[in-house]
Amino acid sequence: MPKNKSSEHDTALSVSKSGWDLINDPQLNKGTAFSLRERDDFGLHGLLPPKCATMETQVYRIMENYYRKSDPLDKFIFLTSLQDRNETLFYRILLDHLESMTPIIYTPTVGLACQQFGHIFRQSRGMYFSSEDRGKIRTIMDNWPQDDVDIIVVTDGSRILGLGDLGANGMGIPIGKLSLYIACGGIYPSRTLPVMMDVGTNNIDFLNDSLYLGINQTRLRGEAYYDLMDEFMQAVNDRWPGILVQFEDFSNDHAFALLDRYREDYLCFNDDIQGTGSVALAGLISALRETGGNLGDQKIVFFGAGAAAIGIANMVAAGIMEEGGISMDKARRCFWFLDSNGLVSTKRGDQLVEHKLPYARNEVWLPDLLAVVKKVKPTVLMGLSGQPQSFNEEVLSEMARHVERPIIFALSNPTSKAECSAEQAYNWTEGRAIFASGSPFDPVEYKGKVYIPGQGNNMYIFPGIGLGASLCGAKKITDSMFYVAAKTLASRITREKLAQGNVFPELNRIRQITESIASAVIRLAYDQGLATEPKSDDILKFIQSKMYHPVYKDYVKA
Ligand code: NAI
Repeated sequence: MPKNKSSEHDTALSVSKSGWDLINDPQLNKGTAFSLRERDDFGLHGLLPPKCATMETQVYRIMENYYRKSDPLDKFIFLTSLQDRNETLFYRILLDHLESMTPIIYTPTVGLACQQFGHIFRQSRGMYFSSEDRGKIRTIMDNWPQDDVDIIVVTDGSRILGLGDLGANGMGIPIGKLSLYIACGGIYPSRTLPVMMDVGTNNIDFLNDSLYLGINQTRLRGEAYYDLMDEFMQAVNDRWPGILVQFEDFSNDHAFALLDRYREDYLCFNDDIQGTGSVALAGLISALRETGGNLGDQKIVFFGAGAAAIGIANMVAAGIMEEGGISMDKARRCFWFLDSNGLVSTKRGDQLVEHKLPYARNEVWLPDLLAVVKKVKPTVLMGLSGQPQSFNEEVLSEMARHVERPIIFALSNPTSKAECSAEQAYNWTEGRAIFASGSPFDPVEYKGKVYIPGQGNNMYIFPGIGLGASLCGAKKITDSMFYVAAKTLASRITREKLAQGNVFPELNRIRQITESIASAVIRLAYDQGLATEPKSDDILKFIQSKMYHPVYKDYVKA
């Protein structure tokens, strides 16, 4: 069926490179694991130590070195160098240590790596396009060596995690996300492409830093910005027709507009809006299995009214509508939003931006979170503000006064920006909170009970969406695909995990979760008439046959 992807069932690989070129190709290099026969056939004798190692021995050596490092950024640099010289080994190790390594290659450590990007830079990965490339993007795209690319993750670095404008340093995000795509979603490494649209930065520290690697100008604005993005979208779809483009960490003044501009004509989605919405809805559905009650009965206060918060509200509203057969307007009455000016209300007297309008309350304006919690008595509190410690003791204990099991999701990333820690959430609610965060927190003991806080990580969702949409050749990605993804994810959480306070499944089951989400997405794409590839009789088997597994294949001469 779709696309001529190599399959896991091919045990041998025909290779044209040899000698030093082969060892220096990270996609083909096996290092000391080249067999004697391969060393004969590919002119490798003398270029490697004589003893042939197994992958298991290589893993052992890497992990011994990895555990010797205590600083997360050192671990990040160490893993990046491994990725730069032997991708198969890197993905083997990442997949086998997903739980402990995701916080290194993604949030929170990736945030630190982005802040330091120009200082720790060793080797280029992915493609950079800058505002100086106007009119030349399609030509430059030919410089990328792979003719088959399925997925691009792109950022303009304008809102990296909760750290703000990091300009071209934001490249760490597409690279990290695609590593997760490969490990969790089984996309072939060579079929992924991280992209930085360098449209300048307003970060003065970077503009004054001689090691900053982006263009030295302030951000492109207005029509010029959209013209450049239009050129990029046309160029990628010309070079790789039907490619999936995932938008990541765009500031909300562009995030919504870009999604609206491209979602009907190109295969694309915005992970901060749609992916976050889906993962948070899954967490909420799971939490309600513990607390009882329906989505439509909840009073949900959002602290932060940007891309992520609105994305979650849209998705939860879809859930409420499905559950109760009610209108979108009615569903939205369950939500209260706060932004940096307090309650988002029609009575506030300022001009609200478009994405907030449907959620503005037609009630008296309140200045801060405590006032809103006192008045609304929410059952759910969602933090997506990038403002650390804003869920303080007064706010959480006030919430816990009115609800037996407060659902508290402090989703801002990285850890330093979380609205509260897991420990604070349990302490300030007498252990009654159902807590989840954006970045991971360690288990917490409160009055003799151990709580395992869940991480509302988008990596539960986006690999399955990307894999499914790409394999069935979807014409576009719809919100309903994210909705079925949320329901599928929620169905994977066990009673045992819920009893420990965790509303998300174990990360070590991520491949199975991804397969079932991809399967649900493909089914929906066929139902909605959006799939362009012929349908397979056994969708799950088909997905599994197309997934990348980080194992060494035998090389034969091309
Ligand atoms: P954004 O920049 O679009 O929105 C931030 C919002 O916070 C804005 O509405 C702003 O007005 C509000 N805000 C800022 N200061 C405030 C204050 N003092 N009081 C109340 N509101 C305030 O950013 P986006 O994309 O919505 O992301 C927000 C946070 O959510 C980030 O930290 C990001 O890392 C995190 N996030 C977490 C995800 C996850 O856990 N799965 C996924 C996506 C984002």
